[in-house]
Amino acid sequence: MIALYICRRSEGVKLSSKRLNAIVNMVPKSQTVADIGCDHGKIAVELIESGIAENVICTDISENSLDKAKKLAAAKGLCDSVTFRHGDGMHVIRAGEADTAVIAGMGGELIASILQSGETRVPDTLVLSCNTASRLLREWLCDNVFVIVDEQLVLEGRHFYPVILATRGNCESLSDIELEFGPVLLRTKPKTLKAYVNRRIELTKNIRKKLRKASKSNKDALIKEIDAQSKKYEEVRKCL
Ligand SMILES: C[S@@+](CC[C@H](N)C(=O)[O-])C[C@H]1O[C@@H](n2cnc3c(N)ncnc32)[C@H](O)[C@@H]1O
Repeated sequence: MIALYICRRSEGVKLSSKRLNAIVNMVPKSQTVADIGCDHGKIAVELIESGIAENVICTDISENSLDKAKKLAAAKGLCDSVTFRHGDGMHVIRAGEADTAVIAGMGGELIASILQSGETRVPDTLVLSCNTASRLLREWLCDNVFVIVDEQLVLEGRHFYPVILATRGNCESLSDIELEFGPVLLRTKPKTLKAYVNRRIELTKNIRKKLRKASKSNKDALIKEIDAQSKKYEEVRKCL
């Protein structure tokens, strides 16, 4: 089962954004996908046009955003296979209605809170892509009995976006480094991971410089913490 998921679609889809392509390519063949926070609706359209999903339920908390998706689906003639629901997170999806949920383009905290409050409505397969706090999202998955079976790290512009495929199952506990950088990414070692680790090292150096100039009473303790983090990241870089 895991091998099947890790075998990525070779032909790929052709959206203008690398991030959106990676998200769509990560979705396994599904009867019904719930695209939570669909906004523009491009993910739904591509899922249907590429034959990955039979149906997509597009949801959004913002009516204006949902209207964009409605317009795009109508322009593409896909109104039979894409439906639209206005509301918060998983609350507009019934339990068992979707086999896969895509939640992308939000912070990791928001995605985790959508999953947390969705309870029984959360399907067994999730494709998640956060802008921030990927560690927190991996922690949520592990604590809630989801296994990360595939991951990609997309660099678009200056931003890094993890794209995670998780399925329900017993998660072996993840190490500190695995939570931080992703268990699959650490195994597959994509070029973007090295660039991401370099970015993190750069950031710790900048913070260290600022701390040295600052007049905080606890600055020595903070510098020690930053140095420990830097050392940890350097160790990861050596393995890539
Ligand atoms: C930046 S857009 C991302 C659009 C698309 N998923 C992507 O990855 O490009 C985030 C969308 O999530 C919606 N959103 C935020 N919180 C939400 C929630 N709790 N439930 C449903 N949609 C939400 C916003 O209204 C917005 O349209």
